[in-house]
Amino acid sequence: MLKTKLGELKLPNPTVLASGVLGNSAGLLKRIAENGAGALTTKSISLKPQNGYENPTVVELEYGLLNAIGLSNPGIEEFKKELTGLNLDIPVIGSCWGESIEEFPTIAAKLSKYVDAIEINLSCPHTQLRLIGQNPKVVKRVTRDVRSVINKPLIVKLTPNVNSISTVASSAVDGGADIISAINSVGAMAINIETKTPVLGNAVGGYSGPAVKPIAIRCVYEISNEIDVPIIGIGGIITGRDAIEMLMAGASAIGIGTGVLYRNINIFEKICNEIKEFMIKEDYKKIDELVGCAVRN
Ligand SMILES: Cc1cc2nc3c(=O)[nH]c(=O)nc-3n(C[C@H](O)[C@H](O)[C@H](O)COP(=O)(O)O)c2cc1C
Repeated sequence: MLKTKLGELKLPNPTVLASGVLGNSAGLLKRIAENGAGALTTKSISLKPQNGYENPTVVELEYGLLNAIGLSNPGIEEFKKELTGLNLDIPVIGSCWGESIEEFPTIAAKLSKYVDAIEINLSCPHTQLRLIGQNPKVVKRVTRDVRSVINKPLIVKLTPNVNSISTVASSAVDGGADIISAINSVGAMAINIETKTPVLGNAVGGYSGPAVKPIAIRCVYEISNEIDVPIIGIGGIITGRDAIEMLMAGASAIGIGTGVLYRNINIFEKICNEIKEFMIKEDYKKIDELVGCAVRN
């Protein structure tokens, strides 16, 4: 009943672990698979190890999380040890980024040996990556360069911090993207009024969780109106009802990041049960019947 497809990737259910939240070790990836996820995305990996920003890097606000971690990761040479021998029966998506445009194909080709699909992160709101992801021409070029060196499905992850996300999505598809994922976190900031300083070490960060859901729904709706490749809808998905809304906006699968921290590691199972309950009540037989139904109407 819950099966879905992202191009050639087959998922037992539409829940996907979003990049950056728990996906940084083999042990955690296995545990998330055991807790019912339909697919897993790794932390975004780069060629060289990255330390990230000064603390604090994550703070909880009223309606979500504000983070600027700085894409800290151990680099591909260390991280590939986590992926080697990781034998899971759900797709593992390797997320990656380059310190320059030219670095993207190199890291993507190295990572693609250990995963079922590649996601390129062109969208982190508090690093230089946002400059790549905000320029449709550059998005097309990076996508094309990565497409030419990997033979696995290519996912391009987009930022909501643009005027027209559907224009950027079209450029990614023109460059050869098989799947679009949206959204990354929304550029945001908080200030401590006693110390008169920004709360985050990096000052500016990305907002995620319940507050960004309506933004994510709008983005996915606009993308699915414009292009015809599968979408992983991400942003503020905490409950089965949120997930159904995202599917109806045009997503074929839904990414869960902050939700893992709100409802625990078994959020995947919980959301699947809640989707199933709704489908039975409303007489839906397949996930496909939900995908984009609010766009078609
Ligand atoms: C702590 C944290 C770390 C993140 N790290 C990454 C990352 O490494 N790569 C990436 O593409 N997105 C990263 N994201 C963004 C999430 O994958 C997701 O796109 C965003 O948080 C919106 O979804 P959510 O509301 O379900 O968290 C991160 C988000 C959080 C909260």
